[in-house]
Amino acid sequence: MRRKLLMILVALCLPVCGFTGQLAPVGDVPIPEQNPQTPAKVELGKKLFFDRRLSGDGTMSCSTCHDPRQGYSDGLEISLSYPTTRNWRNSPTLIGVAFQKYLFHDGRASTLEEQALFPMMSAFEMNQNLDFLEEKLRSVPEYVTEFTSVFGDDDVTRARIAMAIAAFERTLVSRDAPLDRFLNGDTNALSPEALKGYKLFTGKGKCADCHYGVKLADDQFHVLHVPENPEHLKDPRIAATRRFVAKVYHFEGYRTLSEDPGRYLITKDQKDWKAFRTPTLRDIASTAPYMHNGIYATLDEVIEFFNAGGGKGNTALTPLQLTPAEKGQLRVFLEEGLTGAKATFTYPKIP
Ligand code: HEC
Ligand code: HEC
Repeated sequence: MRRKLLMILVALCLPVCGFTGQLAPVGDVPIPEQNPQTPAKVELGKKLFFDRRLSGDGTMSCSTCHDPRQGYSDGLEISLSYPTTRNWRNSPTLIGVAFQKYLFHDGRASTLEEQALFPMMSAFEMNQNLDFLEEKLRSVPEYVTEFTSVFGDDDVTRARIAMAIAAFERTLVSRDAPLDRFLNGDTNALSPEALKGYKLFTGKGKCADCHYGVKLADDQFHVLHVPENPEHLKDPRIAATRRFVAKVYHFEGYRTLSEDPGRYLITKDQKDWKAFRTPTLRDIASTAPYMHNGIYATLDEVIEFFNAGGGKGNTALTPLQLTPAEKGQLRVFLEEGLTGAKATFTYPKIP
């Protein structure tokens, strides 16, 4: 009986779920029922995303660290931060973020509506008081008009601010990459080198064990033992941020914490010690540097890391023995195959 139920479930899931190991072309973006997508809401969210009023001192917007010119990341190992503080992790791209099941490198948020308030309130990101922000935006007549037309009345609340930003974020999708065309049946979509790279990605390189589905990620957390940057471990401001986040998440030993605990911070489960979420690989050529701590500047370095079987002492990966030519083909696949069509982007006019 159980078995039969399972088989029915699998059959239902097949056409929609990225099946383990199977890459999938980009299709429709999932939209939550509670926050329907309208053009006016997206436009409002876009303005808020680029508006520096969202930060306490008026110097930063979301786009400061998620810059469309940097693949919606900020191009730094460790992300930018509120003046006089330092961040502790790499800023992830927001491309394809609508497809993420877990948000943040440790998966501590799960909806974009919930997530958007974190950076605004964060002492080391935008350092804003949300009660004050609501009043600040209520003083801008254009915003009051837009909130009214989008939400039905003129109440400017943090929940609506987050809903509008989330609606905008759901439009950030990389489309029509050679991989999509290839998976949709165009056998010539990948160049000969990229095609060899694709075969390594799904074969000898074992990349598709974890990087599959639409976003090329498995919604899991893995302990790869990516090396730490000693400079960052030593930086007292980064250490303060690390201890602060750990304290907020009731990590008992936060005072003496000297490295990033990864997913453990959230679950307190020993198997999650230094486990990080598998990141999307869409538009990966434009989102360097790589890993939760930005330790690798190039895709060649990342490929070298996986080829060596990952970081010291990890049990998730094994050495791959790729030849220099194969490493090059894998890089070409990542660079060419996963880069979406250039979309025209227009900056909003901030009221
Ligand atoms: C000062 C830099 C900074 C600012 C400003 C900032 N972010 Fe981020 N953002 C980050 C960093 C760093 C992370 C990863 C943090 C972590 O994993 O612990 C992140 C993570 C995210 C994620 C999760 C993405 C993923 O794939 O898991 C989303 C979504 C996001 N930010 C949206 C926003 C929005 C919306 C704003 C504005 C309200 C914003 N960010 C402002 C640096 C910033
Ligand atoms: C066991 C699962 C697993 C396998 C197998 C795997 N990866 Fe990953 N990959 C991850 C995780 C987890 C991270 C994030 C690690 C971190 O941030 O510390 C990652 C990070 C990356 C990144 C950096 C992305 C970014 O935005 O920072 C790239 C590129 C990448 N992997 C490519 C590959 C390639 C190419 C292969 C095959 C040679 C591969 N991966 C095999 C799980 C895996």
